[in-house]
Amino acid sequence: LTTVREIFRNREEYLGKEVTVGGWVRSVRDSKTFGFLVLHDGTFFEPLQVVYHDKMENFAEVSKLNVGAAVIVRGILTPTPQAKQPFEIQAEEVTVEGASAPDYPLQKKRHSLEYLRTISHLRPRTNTFQAVFRVRSLIAYAIHQFFQERDFVYVHTPLITGSDCEGAGEMFRVTTLDLEDLPRTADGKVDTGKDFFGKETNLTVSGQLNGETYAQAFRNIYTFGPTFRAENSNTTRHAAEFWMIEPEIAFADLKDDMMLAEAMLKYVIRYVLEHAPEEMNFFNSFVDKGLLERLNHVVDSEFAHVTYTEAIEILEKNNKNFDYKVSWGCDLQTEHERYLTEQVFKRPVFVTDYPKEIKAFYMKLNEDGKTVAAMDCLVPGIGEIIGGSQREDDYEKLTQRMDELGLKKEDYGFYLDLRKYGSTRHAGFGLGFERCVMYLTGIANIRDVVPFPRTVGNCEL
Ligand code: 4AD
Ligand code: MG
Repeated sequence: LTTVREIFRNREEYLGKEVTVGGWVRSVRDSKTFGFLVLHDGTFFEPLQVVYHDKMENFAEVSKLNVGAAVIVRGILTPTPQAKQPFEIQAEEVTVEGASAPDYPLQKKRHSLEYLRTISHLRPRTNTFQAVFRVRSLIAYAIHQFFQERDFVYVHTPLITGSDCEGAGEMFRVTTLDLEDLPRTADGKVDTGKDFFGKETNLTVSGQLNGETYAQAFRNIYTFGPTFRAENSNTTRHAAEFWMIEPEIAFADLKDDMMLAEAMLKYVIRYVLEHAPEEMNFFNSFVDKGLLERLNHVVDSEFAHVTYTEAIEILEKNNKNFDYKVSWGCDLQTEHERYLTEQVFKRPVFVTDYPKEIKAFYMKLNEDGKTVAAMDCLVPGIGEIIGGSQREDDYEKLTQRMDELGLKKEDYGFYLDLRKYGSTRHAGFGLGFERCVMYLTGIANIRDVVPFPRTVGNCEL
């Protein structure tokens, strides 16, 4: 079988010749002696039109096909200079591979994204989700290519862990214990020592701590894998299971970290604009009108930089318009992040040097003793897309911070070892993969960029 992609990309080779393609029927129109099938084979964003005639012995069968049927068509690729599409297949043979029932949930009309979420097994057959999931695939490839071209080592960090990287306590417990009959210690507590691993374990919230150990061996590494957060936030940008890209670079500080993040985002945007022009035009026309202009502007300009303290001064002036009023020390909410990037800077912005109280234990303490060398990258339409920092590389300062937060040093022995044996300046960040897909497609809800989303109260399929 030829693919529709191959035909569109190398049309000169195929025009006037016989081609055979397989695909799913998007629509059927028939009159007495001939009919049209619009066919989509998933390899290319544009559909292919097929004309068939009553000289075919299964003319009646084909005319009765429902939307969604799978067919194989053999025929001559013929130019159609007068029509909307550049060519069509004049069919000699249409073989029905699998008919489709008349109650096929995707009829030839616009369905709402909410409705399509209820049929996540069928929605990849629609234009919107064809575009989203091809672009998602390309972004993943571009990210690997970006890091591999720069000789970063791809490290697979574990999904089951005994530590809580972000210290937010938002973890899914992993256990084989029988909930009906939990083993108890003498003082009545659940005896996690009797569990599979002999201790309490969870699904990872981040691969960073393990990633750091490899950065102290390979210099530059990245992870790219699933992470899990039991955050009880039912928003358009939080999922319980999402993918994260976490580079970690040794002999590097926060500035190097931000340069890497900016270069990576620009690389990925350029890659997708170049490799998925049809899909990106579709998003620009039907999902988010300003998308292409915005992304083209991003690749051609520098990201903005502002410290947390400066950002708070800016935000305080607008406090009357916020649901949640800001003051120095508070964490930024989505409304504040979006105000900064959409109204004030009008491009991606790095916010740096947050108060240590609202950031994780591993971030390097600044000289002021109050803030840490952290950076969040905020983008229009979403808010935080990247969170990163320079890491505390000083053994004493790190253990002091862990004591303040009541973290058990036994659980982090491997992590402290890195500060004992050849500690280097080092930094890294985490890019939320789904938020990156949202940013590049203009899709507003994280549920529509994950094939099978997991969010509070929802684990279908
Ligand atoms: O800011 P976060 O929590 O940073 C970390 O996990 C660090 N360990 C990263 C590092 O320095 N190596 O998460 C990083 C990014 C966020 O900026 C956001 O894009 C995404 O992960 N993220 C989520 N995406 C979807 N759903 C959620 N519940 C998310 N939580 C974080
Ligand atoms: Mg963060």
